[in-house]
Amino acid sequence: MRQRTVVVTGGAGFIGSHLVDRYVELGHRVVVVDDLTTGHLRNLNKAAKFYHTSVTQPAVEEIFQREQPQVVNHHAAQISVADSVRDPLKDAAINIQGTLRLIELSRSYGVERFIFSSSGGTIYGEPEYTPCDESQPVNPLSPYALSKFAAEEYLELYRKTYRLNYVTLRYGNVYGPRQDPHGEAGVVAIFIKAMLEGRQPRVFGSGDQERDFVAVSDVVEANMLAMEKGSGAYNVGTGVGTSINRIFEILKGITKYKWNQVTAPARRNEVFKISLDSSRLRRELGWEPALSLEDGLADTVDYFRSTIRSPG
Ligand SMILES: NC(=O)c1ccc[n+]([C@@H]2O[C@H](COP(=O)([O-])OP(=O)(O)OC[C@H]3O[C@@H](n4cnc5c(N)ncnc54)[C@H](O)[C@@H]3O)[C@@H](O)[C@H]2O)c1
Repeated sequence: MRQRTVVVTGGAGFIGSHLVDRYVELGHRVVVVDDLTTGHLRNLNKAAKFYHTSVTQPAVEEIFQREQPQVVNHHAAQISVADSVRDPLKDAAINIQGTLRLIELSRSYGVERFIFSSSGGTIYGEPEYTPCDESQPVNPLSPYALSKFAAEEYLELYRKTYRLNYVTLRYGNVYGPRQDPHGEAGVVAIFIKAMLEGRQPRVFGSGDQERDFVAVSDVVEANMLAMEKGSGAYNVGTGVGTSINRIFEILKGITKYKWNQVTAPARRNEVFKISLDSSRLRRELGWEPALSLEDGLADTVDYFRSTIRSPG
């Protein structure tokens, strides 16, 4: 495989840091751009060159000038649906304008390939059927979903206009080691942390809402394949919807947690049931999810056990 210089935005975050580790392992030169709003220096691979800045800053151009990347893998984002509802302008500034800045720089500095992390769990809204494939109409129900889709459309426009090569990966609910348990997203990390600390996890609404939970290691492999081939948008999910109540039960079993969840009012602007058909990704890029949900959750609990001190 040809060694390349890869800019990973959001490389100090959950998914981004796993990508960086894998790129480094494969011998690529990695440059991370992250403003550390939700990312952490402790996630950062020491072999990566780090720029502590926001993708919204004009100075990002200097990074392109100096590093001359062949690949841009864009994972920096405002990631919270709830925050996007509270502050849609901020969401758009990071997720639309910030992304457009990187796309525009990629065009002018001759980047060979742009990989973008979109959200299959939100951009389709309530799908007409599940598992949902890429041919279903997009129907964003939140500013976050809309900003992700707008960025996708800019990429498609740049492909048509300037022949910019890109792959958009539309993720389901990604879970695994290093996911931040402090935010409002990332139900697996939030539940595990609460259970290991002996607190009752909060479930919004009935808990019957379903998501397609996909392991971060499988998401990383999709990104590695997307560096070599593919064009356009691909779902990345298992094709199976799992309810929040089921996740609670599985994690309860693994952690030996004793109590029930507490319920909270359902959140607005959220999709009720979704799972993603990833046939296109399998067919065109040869992707195959390798980790079962039960094994992936057990690995994630092991990781959090090693980082959280349980009270008893
Ligand atoms: N985790 C999921 O289930 C999921 C699902 C669909 C899509 N995604 C997308 O994947 C990407 C990574 O998400 P994650 O779950 O790893 O979240 P994360 O919060 O761990 O990672 C985001 C990273 O981007 C950085 N960042 C935020 N704003 C920035 C800015 N303006 N400039 C530079 N860096 C900035 C943060 O500090 C963080 O390190 C995001 O684009 C997210 O929308 C995630």
